[in-house]
Amino acid sequence: MAAIEVVQGDISLQDTDAIVTAANESLMGGGGVDGAIHRAAGRRLAIAGAAIGPCEPGDAMATPAFNLNPPVKYVIHTVGPVWEGGEYGEAEVLASCYRRCLEVADELGARTIAFPAIATGVYGFPAKQAARIAVTTLQLSSALVEQVRLVAFDQHAYDLLVAALAS
Ligand code: APR
Repeated sequence: MAAIEVVQGDISLQDTDAIVTAANESLMGGGGVDGAIHRAAGRRLAIAGAAIGPCEPGDAMATPAFNLNPPVKYVIHTVGPVWEGGEYGEAEVLASCYRRCLEVADELGARTIAFPAIATGVYGFPAKQAARIAVTTLQLSSALVEQVRLVAFDQHAYDLLVAALAS
């Protein structure tokens, strides 16, 4: 099982082998964390995303990291669930995002990976429940990834992830 750490910061500045973006199905970039990563990686990221997309919610696909600084080699694009009240399988789709990102990281031989709080922004997934799903799914994984970094963009998200990890 990978070591899991929580940090507060900008995921586009993390020094891991792979960073995960919370994309939309086109993989051509958007706002939020996806926008930050596309701005940092450069326009080739959207071109590479368009070439392999669309990506189903719950799935994950990798591209090179282009202009992102080493050691980042890959951007793993995943599409979270749009929150519709919790009765439409949103929790399972979110868990699938984390599982599939780890599977893709293993296929790439990435040993360290950074995740944003997938689906908790524009897609409206309740952050506390999302933090519990993220931590539980990662803790149950048998992936070869050695280090997982959960990157919170603000103090509230950071506190929720730390609490989820401690429980
Ligand atoms: N680094 C780390 N986390 C960030 C950053 C950043 N630079 N910018 C935003 N975040 C956090 C947000 O605070 C939120 O907690 O990422 C989390 C996910 O929010 P969104 O980026 O809105 O992603 P999501 O809710 O999954 O919605 C995806 O938004 O940008 C569009 O194209 C994207 O359609 C897709 C949708």
